[in-house]
Amino acid sequence: MTGKPLSIDDRSARRLSKEVKMTNLKGQDILHGNQFSKKDIDKMIKIASGFERDLRKKDSLALLKGKILATLFFEPSTRTRLSFETAMLRLGGGVISMASAESSSAAKGETVADTARTVSQYADVLVIRHPRIGSAKEAADAASIPVINAGDGAGQHPTQALLDIYTIRKELGSLKNLSVSMVGDLKNGRTVHALVELLSLYQTQHYFVSPANLRMPEEITSHLKQKGVWIEEIEDLEKAASESHLIYMTRIQKERFADLTEYEKVRGRYIIDGEFLRKLKKKTTILHPLPRVDEVSSDVDSYPGAAYFRQVRNGVFVRMALLAMVLGRR
Ligand code: NCD
Repeated sequence: MTGKPLSIDDRSARRLSKEVKMTNLKGQDILHGNQFSKKDIDKMIKIASGFERDLRKKDSLALLKGKILATLFFEPSTRTRLSFETAMLRLGGGVISMASAESSSAAKGETVADTARTVSQYADVLVIRHPRIGSAKEAADAASIPVINAGDGAGQHPTQALLDIYTIRKELGSLKNLSVSMVGDLKNGRTVHALVELLSLYQTQHYFVSPANLRMPEEITSHLKQKGVWIEEIEDLEKAASESHLIYMTRIQKERFADLTEYEKVRGRYIIDGEFLRKLKKKTTILHPLPRVDEVSSDVDSYPGAAYFRQVRNGVFVRMALLAMVLGRR
């Protein structure tokens, strides 16, 4: 080693090349929560926290200079699209973006597969959100570049799950043996579908708190039971929350209801506010993928365990890690 200190970019590149060699994510699609091993998650956490440190000293890195990310969003998004784009820009790469279905050829009837084939001619990695379950997989099968699922209808949202995991590790110090209440629309909420797959690698216990008609899909609960995960489906939020280290709130997914009178019956069923927290007596961590409607009231925001805006910020570091891992070194 010569005496010349390494720049942050050199250090990131070295760290990444070491870490990437130990993961199998290079060139891979990211489609489902169950595709990750504990080892993948450990690597992701390491790489993301490295980027978090780097960004305290520098606005952006040059690691993915020359690479292009395409974001294709056929459904509304604030955080997921903007944080992926922020992540790519902070890594020195470029971004091309389609923010709505109406502004693309989907409006003319183009298939997801053809759109994915087309975008493969422009970009090095594609992030897609679409209202139909299985659409990200369809894009991945057609694309010649890695495809990242940013939400396929009521299916999966694996990158949200990874940033949730990163946040839980940071907030609670460990992922092991946690008791977790997942609350709200567990039927249609894709974030919980992906997150519970990841958490269950760490011997977590789960309360699934939802109205009877919005329960966690059977295929997920039976898969968890098969793996020996302790779960209890329950409607009583107070009981579940008082026995949990972590409450993961979700929005009732209005856009997935065919009949809006059904939505009206369940909206506002579960609300966490200051009074609810006082009744709990012990400090609990509260996460929410956002956007919230009425399920976490704004008087909770100043509560020390309210981690949902820190969760938003962590999304950038985690998505930097994912882009870097999927693209490998320059
Ligand atoms: C979630 C989503 O789109 O599934 N939002 C997000 O990505 N942070 C949750 C939701 O829309 O309720």
